[in-house]
Amino acid sequence: MIAALVIDVADWRAVGTAAVSIRDAVFVSEQGVPAELEHDGRDLDCRHVLVRTREGVPIATGRLLPDGHIGRVAVLPAWRGQGVGRDVMLALIGEASRRGHAEVLLNSQASAVPFYLGLGFSVYGAPFVEAGIPHQAMRFSLVRRSPTLNQSII
Ligand code: COA
Repeated sequence: MIAALVIDVADWRAVGTAAVSIRDAVFVSEQGVPAELEHDGRDLDCRHVLVRTREGVPIATGRLLPDGHIGRVAVLPAWRGQGVGRDVMLALIGEASRRGHAEVLLNSQASAVPFYLGLGFSVYGAPFVEAGIPHQAMRFSLVRRSPTLNQSII
């Protein structure tokens, strides 16, 4: 993690404007995802991670849906490759754990699969295409099993 960054986990009312600016830049402008697909109306139900610089400039985001799905993970191009995406994911996984989820799930763009594998996610199911982009379903278990008692501990 870059020491000077500020990472918030918050509701849409608090961080929505900043999150939209990042998501529009990355998904709509950079990747060509139609704006009507990107703005799916589910954000009010989600918890959101927003990463800002020390000066308050928004640079990365991601969301956790009530069903344990993670999505909309995006880092502005100038900030990639410095551990910011990992920070977003760790904050989302931590929030999912606090909320009692047994696992988190996501639909990864094919190009991002190695990023999620590096965080401990595993693939499941067949690849598919969404918004014209190849995707792969992935999951990460939040349940630890005791080697002696074989009990599940969240
Ligand atoms: N392919 C392979 N490895 C990748 C990778 C990729 N596309 N993206 C990141 N990694 C690796 C990094 O090299 C790093 O490895 P290390 O731990 O060995 O150093 C590790 O994953 C963590 O990378 P990090 O710097 O935290 O990632 P990032 O800040 O660049 O964010 C994305 C990664 C995918 C979120 C970012 O590239 C992005 O916003 N892409 C555009 C939007 C997108 O595709 N989102 C995902 C939708 S499913």
